[in-house]
Amino acid sequence: MTVAHHREGDDDSSDRAPLLLHSLAALREVIFPCLDISGARTLVEVGGEDGTFTRELVAWTEKTGGRLYCVDPQPSAKLVELCDGSDAAELIVDRSPAALESLERADAYMLDGDHNYYTVRNELEAIERRSRDGSSMPLVFLHDVGWPCGRRDQYYSPESLPAEAVHPYTYDRGVIPESSEVVKGGFRGAGEFAVALEEGGEANGVLTAVEDFLEGRPELSLVTVPCVFGLGVIHPTSSTEGRAVGELLQFYDGHPLLERLERNRLTLYLRVLELQDGMRSLMAQLDDTSLRLRDAGTENRALWARNAELEAHLKVFTDEAGFLLASRAFTVAERLAKLHGSKAPSRDRLRAALEGVQPA
Ligand SMILES: C[S@@+](CC[C@H](N)C(=O)[O-])C[C@H]1O[C@@H](n2cnc3c(N)ncnc32)[C@H](O)[C@@H]1O
Repeated sequence: MTVAHHREGDDDSSDRAPLLLHSLAALREVIFPCLDISGARTLVEVGGEDGTFTRELVAWTEKTGGRLYCVDPQPSAKLVELCDGSDAAELIVDRSPAALESLERADAYMLDGDHNYYTVRNELEAIERRSRDGSSMPLVFLHDVGWPCGRRDQYYSPESLPAEAVHPYTYDRGVIPESSEVVKGGFRGAGEFAVALEEGGEANGVLTAVEDFLEGRPELSLVTVPCVFGLGVIHPTSSTEGRAVGELLQFYDGHPLLERLERNRLTLYLRVLELQDGMRSLMAQLDDTSLRLRDAGTENRALWARNAELEAHLKVFTDEAGFLLASRAFTVAERLAKLHGSKAPSRDRLRAALEGVQPA
């Protein structure tokens, strides 16, 4: 299961546990005992991502003298480095199910690539075709048989699948357990993968593909471990090793406590996503307000500068008006003085007298 907003750390066995367990590595205590008890040697992992689980599979194959084939059409640099660094591992840069046809039958398969009905059903059929030489169906581990992919297709590259095998989908909207439709927010691929618009119905989801494949094959049995997005294990009931695996896993099969814990962790994680989304929207609002505040500050400074400019103009006008008024008053006073034969007041006295006079 790939989940947007969070990438698991390199080593999820450390105390610094990831916020959301999503790698098959989190199910190591369930998977490796099955491999041991079944005597498996050759393994195929479909979907290596950043190698979190591949690293553990490589260590296991090196220890047991086995061989691992990891199929991924878009391997990360870490995955390439990991597979290049081990003689026990080989990276197949191709898409499953086609890649499975070109490989010899392995003893166990980890299917965790493109989580949709068409891909998973065809992967199971390809594995079965490889087993038709008298050998029984190998062990098949399937990730994401639980919510959200159990009954709803997810597509890494819908354009690479036959059009009739693809349900209408979205890259933008997400899913929540309470709704069969898609919603704004929720679990979503953020451009990395798309989800079907509707949950349920025919030919939709990983678990539906497994159930349809198992119909009419009574020699195969399915165990589901209902946590970390759900692990399905198909094992043959006709062989001693297959039955041993079934017995080993019986305890986990649909365990209500695991189911309850899974529901709880999904609810909590969805709450984290909701809070992250809310925080992102608040940050966007804050950015917007800061920008507007910055613009208002710039405008404010420009207005203050314009104000100072106008005040300076006003001062010039006022001084000029005062000067003109004083000159005019002096002329009038001079004329009056001449008329009455008295002495005209000085310009300074007139100016001083006029300064106390407000315009009407
Ligand atoms: C959920 S991640 C795998 C996680 C990994 N198995 C783990 O448990 O750590 C899915 C990976 O499948 C790959 N993938 C997508 N479509 C695929 C396909 N058709 N065949 C093989 N791998 C595919 C993606 O590139 C991605 O790396």
